[in-house]
Amino acid sequence: MYAVIKIAFFYAAAIVGAMLVGAAPLNSRQIGDVQCNVNRLLIVGDLGGLKNTLSTLSKQVTDPTSNAAVQEAATDVSGAQSAIGVIAAALLTGQDAPAAARDQVAGNLTSAQSALSSVTTSDSAAASTLQKAQTQLTDAINAGEGVVNDCN
Ligand SMILES: *[C@@H]1O[C@H](CO)[C@@H](O)[C@H](O)[C@H]1NC(C)=O
Repeated sequence: MYAVIKIAFFYAAAIVGAMLVGAAPLNSRQIGDVQCNVNRLLIVGDLGGLKNTLSTLSKQVTDPTSNAAVQEAATDVSGAQSAIGVIAAALLTGQDAPAAARDQVAGNLTSAQSALSSVTTSDSAAASTLQKAQTQLTDAINAGEGVVNDCN
């Protein structure tokens, strides 16, 4: 449990870097008000939960086209997570968060949203999982926007 919390804060620090623009010194990036910190933790938690939900969904959605879209959304979420990892590594070595990685987080989330919106299913369990995934993704995007607004 402690390790999980440590990892969550590691990624939370990465999110700070992901969402902040430009020239603030490193130590000011790692400080934020309560709302800022809540949003950092929310986006990390939402993406982790979304990954699990998409894994369930890919087993429930059998139509090949929709299944491929679910896989694509999962790939996008992994892409966002790995861009967050790039940012975390930069922050941990005292460098500025690379702007390209920040764009990759946003780009992958947008791409995941578009992939998920193309998924259709007539199975009620799958439909419920799909709705959960869309909610988690929307929450992650909203939390990201909250970080942009609150963490400066
Ligand atoms: C998704 O993230 C990966 C890196 O993790 C990056 O190479 C790719 O360009 C990103 N995709 C978008 C649409 O930004």
